[in-house]
Parts: sequence; structure tokens; C-alpha cells
Amino acid sequence: MNQGFTLWFTGLSGAGKSTLANLVADELRRRGHRVEILDGDEVRTNLSKGLGFSKEDRDTNIRRIGYVCNLLARNGVIAISAAISPYRDVRDEVRRAHSRFFEVFMKCPLDTLVERDVKGLYKKALAGEIKSFTGVSDPYEEPLNPELTIDSSLEQVEHSLAKLVATLEQKNFIARHAVSTGGAHKISAGGSR
Ligand code: ADX
Repeated sequence: MNQGFTLWFTGLSGAGKSTLANLVADELRRRGHRVEILDGDEVRTNLSKGLGFSKEDRDTNIRRIGYVCNLLARNGVIAISAAISPYRDVRDEVRRAHSRFFEVFMKCPLDTLVERDVKGLYKKALAGEIKSFTGVSDPYEEPLNPELTIDSSLEQVEHSLAKLVATLEQKNFIARHAVSTGGAHKISAGGSR
């Protein structure tokens, strides 16, 4: 059961990929797994430094992330990718290279993302100051058959985390575990009276 796999988040900028990736990484580490996160923004400052946002460069970025995830997963690590990865064909190519792959589609309506605009990029993209911005002036191809879809406009992140962990358990990616209650464990019944 303690095999590695790749947990692949896909979705528009601001949809909550990194937030949920970090939360699930914490929970998986608490359960004794070795976990690494490859975050789009961070990868673009090192492994993919110099790449832009053309289809070709995005594909190169995703292939690199997929390659590293596969190396990690083969060695027992849970590799988590949190990059937009807008093109279905390259995501599926990465999936095919893996023996264990779990795709999470972080769904969120564009209106909500524009409203949130955490990094201020949607405003710039809508004003034409950033060209080829995913979801505004560049394509995003939704996954057809992801292992899980999470709509971050409809639910709290704690709920999304619980759903993700439960689905990982159900699909036998991780072992079932006592519910973590902030340090204590519900498993211990009884106690002093
Ligand atoms: S991907 O398309 O190659 O998967 P990646 O996740 O690495 O993208 O990087 C996306 C991040 O780069 C966004 O969250 C945003 O902060 C920034 N960014 C800058 N320009 C663009 C753009 N044209 N389209 C999308 N994201 C952009």
C-alpha cells in the first residue's frame, strides 16, 4: 500500500490547486508518506526557467513536471503536481507514463476567479496587458475523466480536503486511517471518567 503515485492537480490559475496540494501534502505526511510538491509557479523559477506560455512551452513544462513526478512515484514518493496543465493530450501522455496516477480537476467559474483575482493577473489579462492568459485569452481543456472534480467556488477547502483524502482511500491509493482531529485521534475510545 505504501507505493508512490502521482497526484495531479489541473485547473485555472487561482482555482485552488496549490492550496489544496499543500493541505493534502501535510495530511499525507502526517500519515507517514513521503511527499514532494511540484508547483507550477516554483518550477518555472528553476526546472522550467526561461519557458513562456506558448502551447509548446507549456507542453515542455508539463512533460518535465510529469517526468520528475514519475521518477519520484516509482521510488515510493507521493508526487504532487500543481500546475495549470491546460492541454488534455499532454496530461494524458503524462498519465500513460505512470502506473499510478490520480487526477484532480479544480473547477471554478471564471467569474469567481476574476472576482478573487488573488495575484491581480485576471485584471491585467482582461485589459489585454497579459497575452495568452489561460481561461481569458488562451485555452483550458477540462479533463474528461478525472479521478475527482472539486469546485472551489461551492465548498470550503476543509471539505475539499476531506473529500480528496476519502477518495484516495476508496480508490486504494492510500490506506484507510483514523480521522485526524488536530493531533488527537478519534480511534482512542474510552479514557478516564
Ligand atoms: S502551465 O500552463 O505551464 O501549466 P503553470 O502552472 O506552470 O502553467 O504557471 C501558471 C502560473 O503562471 C499562473 O498561476 C500565473 O501566476 C502565471 N502566469 C503568467 N502568465 C500566464 C499566462 N499567460 N497564462 C497562465 N498563467 C500565467
